[in-house]
Amino acid sequence: MTEDILTVEDLAVSYGRVQAVRGVSFTVPRGALVTLVGANGAGKTSIINAVSGVVRPSSGRVTFQGKDITRAPAHKLVRQGLVQVPEGRQILASLTIEENLQLGGWHTSGGRTEEVYDRFPVLRERRRLLAGSLSGGEQQMLAIGRALVAEPSLMLLDEPSMGLAPKVVDEVFRVIQEIRAAGTSVLLVEQNARRALRAADHGYVLASGEVARSGPGAELLADDAIVAAYLGLETG
Ligand SMILES: Nc1ncnc2c1ncn2[C@@H]1O[C@H](COP(=O)(O)OP(=O)(O)OP(=O)(O)O)[C@@H](O)[C@H]1O
Ligand SMILES: [Mg+2]
Repeated sequence: MTEDILTVEDLAVSYGRVQAVRGVSFTVPRGALVTLVGANGAGKTSIINAVSGVVRPSSGRVTFQGKDITRAPAHKLVRQGLVQVPEGRQILASLTIEENLQLGGWHTSGGRTEEVYDRFPVLRERRRLLAGSLSGGEQQMLAIGRALVAEPSLMLLDEPSMGLAPKVVDEVFRVIQEIRAAGTSVLLVEQNARRALRAADHGYVLASGEVARSGPGAELLADDAIVAAYLGLETG
């Protein structure tokens, strides 16, 4: 067991001639909540997809639980406990809630479904309904629940607060904190930098595919120059 559950070294991702990510390095200590924040197009999804095996990095190294997983396919990583909640939720609207959860546990006995229903009672009540009938917030809970069924030791979340009302965003962040408190390490990617940095142990600020600054979440937020230059937030 290493102290860091995830280590990313000098990662680069390109799409044809577009270099989306350059020389990005960061770590997720075991049990921590680490966030990557940055504006639209900063490279957040490219990084998380390169870690989870959804896109192939052009260079760099990704180590998960002490093993080199660079270029390992996503389905193999899910079995090893590295599970992604994708941008835009990606639930299957024409399947029921229960079927969506069962898909999350395709490689397990599926025994985690009841635990997910205990965490999200609204999903239990509606388990026979089509997932497309859920509100945006409920769909996000379903996407998180589907990842939990896979029994992750590291959960990657790509902009879980996107498009949700402020009260629902609060609930999503509460759930993420609970998941972390229950022992799952979390890598959270967010445009909602203020919320993400407040919740995180450690944050990395991305700009144009590179790490511009990093530090404890609260410290980054307290730095008016960072807030103004990279996060597009009001200072103070
Ligand atoms: N499939 C693709 N083909 C070509 N260019 C891409 C592709 N995906 C992303 N890009 C480009 O790579 C850069 C980084 O995109 P990425 O989606 O990683 O950013 P992001 O930080 O997740 O943005 P957002 O906040 O909008 O989700 C952008 O310039 C984007 O246009
Ligand atoms: Mg993105």
